[in-house]
Amino acid sequence: MASTDQVTRAEEYWRQAPLDSLIERLLRDHQSWRVKDFPMIEYLFDRLEDTSGPNQPTCLVSLRRAFYRLRGEMEGHMSREENVLFPAIIDAQRQMGEGLPAPKSAFGSMQNPISILEDDHEHDERLLAAIRAAAHGYQAPETADENVRILFRELQALEAAMHAHTHLESSILFARALKVRGR
Ligand SMILES: [Fe+2]
Ligand SMILES: [Fe+2]
Repeated sequence: MASTDQVTRAEEYWRQAPLDSLIERLLRDHQSWRVKDFPMIEYLFDRLEDTSGPNQPTCLVSLRRAFYRLRGEMEGHMSREENVLFPAIIDAQRQMGEGLPAPKSAFGSMQNPISILEDDHEHDERLLAAIRAAAHGYQAPETADENVRILFRELQALEAAMHAHTHLESSILFARALKVRGR
């Protein structure tokens, strides 16, 4: 896990770095969740189902349901960012770099999609909290086997990665986007 110093340095870096680099960084997270983390966690649930026995925690059904809710919500949320906000930020930055007025967009002010995405972020936080609660704070029961421990570890790592990602968007990208194009 990153230290507080590393987090602060990373934040400082992303407050200055070109916006398209920041967006590329965020897109890499999206891609990694879609092609690696979500399928791997799904596989871990499947494997546990196949080997379910008397020592498996009873929370697995509600935990799996909570994970699928998050995954479904994230698919929509990532598409909204990738298809609406991110291209708009890149266009606006390019126009500004060329000394041109901000491009007109179908959604009006930059604040409009940002408000929707902020609502998504709050919803995602609640879904992550539901996963954590269903997994009893990721404390595997004494009797749990290694597969359960691996699943809990992966879910906990996903939660940490999503918190860091959302923080970069809400605290840095959105604020910088509003400066590029105005409210
Ligand atoms: Fe994102
Ligand atoms: Fe987001």
